[in-house]
Amino acid sequence: MAVQTWLRRARRTLLATGTTAALTVALLAGTETSSQAATQGPCDLYASGGTPCVAAHSTTRALYGAYGGALYQVRRASDGAARDIGVLSTGGYANAAAQDAFCAATTCVITVIYDQSGRGNHLTQAPAGGAAGGPDNLAPATAAPVTVAGHKAYGVYVAAGTGYRNNRTSGIATGDQPEGMYAVLDGTHFGGGCCFDYGNAETNNLDTGNGHMEAIYFGDSTIWGSGTGKGPWVMADLENGLFSGVNPGYNANDPSVSHRFLTAIVKGAPNLWAIKAGNAQSGGLSTYYNGVRPNVSGYHPMHKEGAIILGIGGDNSKSSSGTFYEGVMTSGYPSDATENAVQANITAADYQEAAVTSSALTPGARVSLKATTACCTADYLRRNTDATVAISPVTSASSAADKGAATWIVRAGLANGSCLSFESAAAPGQYLRHYGFQFHTAAPDSTALFQQDATFCLRAGHSGQGYSFQSANYPNRFLRHYEYTGYLAGDGVGGNTWDNANYWAEDTSWLTAQPWS
Ligand code: AHR
Ligand code: AHR
Repeated sequence: MAVQTWLRRARRTLLATGTTAALTVALLAGTETSSQAATQGPCDLYASGGTPCVAAHSTTRALYGAYGGALYQVRRASDGAARDIGVLSTGGYANAAAQDAFCAATTCVITVIYDQSGRGNHLTQAPAGGAAGGPDNLAPATAAPVTVAGHKAYGVYVAAGTGYRNNRTSGIATGDQPEGMYAVLDGTHFGGGCCFDYGNAETNNLDTGNGHMEAIYFGDSTIWGSGTGKGPWVMADLENGLFSGVNPGYNANDPSVSHRFLTAIVKGAPNLWAIKAGNAQSGGLSTYYNGVRPNVSGYHPMHKEGAIILGIGGDNSKSSSGTFYEGVMTSGYPSDATENAVQANITAADYQEAAVTSSALTPGARVSLKATTACCTADYLRRNTDATVAISPVTSASSAADKGAATWIVRAGLANGSCLSFESAAAPGQYLRHYGFQFHTAAPDSTALFQQDATFCLRAGHSGQGYSFQSANYPNRFLRHYEYTGYLAGDGVGGNTWDNANYWAEDTSWLTAQPWS
C-alpha cells in the first residue's frame, strides 16, 4: 500500500478511535517525520486540509510551525513607548518575559495583535461604530496570565468597552464564500451584553443588515438566541442575530459551556453552517449545530464583508466581555477531520491557569487592600461596625478603630488551600464572606458553604493594576466595590445592580498596601 494511502487510513482510524493528539497531528502531517510534525501549528493543519488560514491571531503562541515573528505589540503608560512581543523560538510560545521587563513598574496595554498568516490582517484598536463611540479601549496586557506548555503567556482580556478591528483585510471571505474559524477563550469570563465576538464583520462599523457578519459569539446574552441552561453559549453572530441553531431564539442542541479554556468554532458555506465547541484542555469537539442557514430571511445567501472584529459586535456594540488567547479564520470550509486535528493540537498545547502570587498576600501576612477606580484611590476595603464591608478613605490621622477595620490577616483559603481567606484584624475570628452576593464579616460556622463563601483565588488585576479576588464558588464573580459597598459581582452578568459592567474591571482590581494596623 502506498505510504500516503496508509497514512490516510491510519488517520481515519485514529480520529475514529480518538487516539492521542500528538500521533494524530503527526499523521495528519502526511509524509513529514513525527519530530517535524511536533512543531506543526493549527494553521499548518488547516493548510494540509486545503482550507488555509487567512488570519491567525494569538498572544500566546505561534500558530504555524514556521512562524518566528511578532505575536503582538504592547504600549506602556510611563512613556508611551511600544514594543513587539515575539516568540521564544520559531513555532513556539510568547516571550512573556520580554513584556514583563518592558512593562516593569508601569502598566501596558495590547495595541496590536499581529496576523501570522502573512496577509497583514492585524487587529488594532477598534474605531467608533453605529452602536457606540470609539476608539474602543485596549486590553490591559497583564490581566489574563496563563501558561502554555509550561511557558508563561498573556491572553487578551476584554472588559466591556474594549475592542479590536481590521476593516481593510486581505483574503477573508466575502459574500457567500466559505470560511471557518476557531477561537480559544476563557469559558469563565463572559457577559450578557452585545457582543463578545471574533470573526467576520462589516467593513464600515455599521449594522448593514442580516447576513453581513459571520463570527463566533461567546456569552450569555438572550437578546437574540440562546440554548439550554443559563449560558454561556457559543453562538454565531450573523448580524441582527446571535444564532444557536436553525431557529432564531432558542435551540435545544446548544448547551451551556464553561470550560476554563474553551475551543469555539463557527464555519459557514452557501446554505450550510455549523457551531462546534470543546474543552481546550482535553478531549474532542462536539457539534451543536450543523445544517442549513437560519429559517428567517436574510442569511441565505450571506453578504459577508470581510472585516475582522474581536471583542465587539459588527456595529461596534461593546457592552460585553471575554478573554481571547488564540484564533484563526480560514479560506474555505474546513473539514471535521481538520478541526479535530486542530483541537488535538490545542489540547496538546496545554493551556493552564497561571498561578498568581504576591508576597503581601501569603497566609499570616497583614494587609490593607486599596481601591484602584479613579473615584476611590484613597479608599481601602474595610469592615463597618455592623459587620458589612465597604470602602472608605484611611489616612495616618484615622482612628485606631478605622485602621484596624481596614486591615486584614491573610489566611489559607478555608475551602481551598491554594486560594485565600481574609480574617478581619478588627474582629478576630471573623472572615470576609459573601452572603446574597454582599460582603460582610462573620465567624465560620461548620458548613462547607461558609468556607466557599469566604475563599478567593488570587488573579491578575482585571484593569492591569494589582490583583482581583475570584470567588471559590462563583468563579465568574469577584470582590468588587460598588457605590462604596463590598459586593461579589459578575462582569455584566448576575442580574444585580452591582454586576454593572461599567467600571467592573477597575472596581475588581485592588492594590496591596502596608497594613494600617
Ligand atoms: O447580531 C448581533 C449584533 O447586532 C451585531 O453584533 C451588531 O452589529 C448588531 O447590533
Ligand atoms: O464603589 C464606588 C463606585 O460606585 C464604583 O466605582 C462604581 O462601580 C459605582 O458607581
